[in-house]
Amino acid sequence: MSSEEVLWVEKYRPARIDDIIDQDHVKARVKEMLANGNIPHLLFFGPPGTGKTTMALAIAHELYGDAWRENTLELNASDERGIAMIREKVKEFAKTMPTVKAPFRLIILDEADNMTPDAQQALRRIMEMYTTSVRFILLANYPSGIIEPIQSRCSLFRFSPLPKDAVNNRLKEIASKEGVKVTDEALEAIWDVSRET
Ligand SMILES: Nc1ncnc2c1ncn2[C@@H]1O[C@H](COP(=O)(O)OP(=O)(O)OP(=O)(O)O)[C@@H](O)[C@H]1O
Ligand SMILES: [Mg+2]
Repeated sequence: MSSEEVLWVEKYRPARIDDIIDQDHVKARVKEMLANGNIPHLLFFGPPGTGKTTMALAIAHELYGDAWRENTLELNASDERGIAMIREKVKEFAKTMPTVKAPFRLIILDEADNMTPDAQQALRRIMEMYTTSVRFILLANYPSGIIEPIQSRCSLFRFSPLPKDAVNNRLKEIASKEGVKVTDEALEAIWDVSRET
């Protein structure tokens, strides 16, 4: 795909923690953890489109710089191949050390709350087995969808719905960079539609 064809959702995804809008509490704690070099497994939860994936990738950038891709494994828990696939991928990935000076590699597991409780029990064991060489960032909409034994092994971070004016300002900024005219009615419509998901 040429750079012309990259979706705006990727093109304008902030790469750095400081460029993430709002979520100040999360940003402060994450920065503190990075500064201390003390990073536990993390569970990010909150509504869609509030910056969970963006924050997880920003942490990867922070830890590994340009080498973030080869040191980060992105998995989707909704993958139909299920926990067996996750186990195999984690096992393979955890075998090798980070390619840059970092104590561990990173696994981002999206839609963790879509896993059955049994699959989550298996995941918990996998997390424990590889905890010296990898850290997990679990992404979920609701923490209640995650079994307690996993919750208790993670630091939990709540992502709040973004304020309307922050979203509108960001959309205006993007529209102006893309040379697109956007009316207040259009912004209003985008806001309404995005609330429905
Ligand atoms: N707090 C934020 N600051 C700046 N941009 C954001 C923020 N939250 C979301 N975005 C933008 O919205 C898009 C989607 O964000 P992201 O993928 O991080 O959402 P998410 O919380 O992981 O949602 P989902 O639950 O649907 O996976 C990204 O392209 C990002 O640029
Ligand atoms: Mg996401």
